[in-house]
Amino acid sequence: MRPDSRGAIGVFDSGVGGLTVLKALMRRLPGESTLYLGDTARVPYGTKSPEVVTLYSIKNAEFLLERGIKLLVVACNTASSVALPELEAHLRVPVLGVIAPGARAAAAKSRSGKIGVIGTPGTIRSGAYQRELQAARPDVQVSARACPMFVPLAEEGWVTGDVPRLVAREYLAPLVATGVDTLVLGCTHYPLLRDVIAEVMGPGVALVDSAEATAEAVAAVLASKGALEAESRAAEHRYFVTDVPERFMDVGAKFLGQPLSGAEHVDVSFG
Ligand code: DGL
Repeated sequence: MRPDSRGAIGVFDSGVGGLTVLKALMRRLPGESTLYLGDTARVPYGTKSPEVVTLYSIKNAEFLLERGIKLLVVACNTASSVALPELEAHLRVPVLGVIAPGARAAAAKSRSGKIGVIGTPGTIRSGAYQRELQAARPDVQVSARACPMFVPLAEEGWVTGDVPRLVAREYLAPLVATGVDTLVLGCTHYPLLRDVIAEVMGPGVALVDSAEATAEAVAAVLASKGALEAESRAAEHRYFVTDVPERFMDVGAKFLGQPLSGAEHVDVSFG
């Protein structure tokens, strides 16, 4: 490991999805170096139990901590929704998930207090967004819905046209019916389907991307600790994956919005 990895921001996700969070971080904090771990051998997390997702999350965090990160971003909504307390209790660096920043942004944006949340089955089942929204604004009425098919659609690049539109109508019709004025995109993959989701929800519904809200929260934590790097600094971005890198590199470029500079295959062992 090169010594310049020390002091980077560590970011992990179940696979490529967290690259939407990394993209927001790179835009908001251009001087910060990052280490990204995609647990591509064990993806998806969204359909797994909280216990298993928590175990994987601890291993991912340990891998990044060993490389000297100064802050950890849990860039996966599912992992953030179930593993954050455990991670916060055990790690000696600040840990941020994507749920609380996204919920706070949605609570601030909504006029009526009627807020929709979409995510993986695990995220929705955990009730984490529902709890954070209630904490941020006690008058909210939250409608939540799992949209598991959005994940493979986004990875296939099938983000426009009849197929995603039909799937989106099926999933989102109950949320449209409840009259939400704000919808949280509570999964790393959903920003890629933003246009089709916006079309189905209608022009009166604001979409909140947890990734952008999380980048803002990371900037605030680093600033409060005096740990921000100068924006002019040449940042370095490194990628690690637990399965072979080819598909991650290929699909990941769509999520990051630019080609990836290379990814290293690593073994995050459970021994
Ligand atoms: N990254 C996950 C999330 O944001 C979606 C993919 C998965 O199920 O692992 O919840």
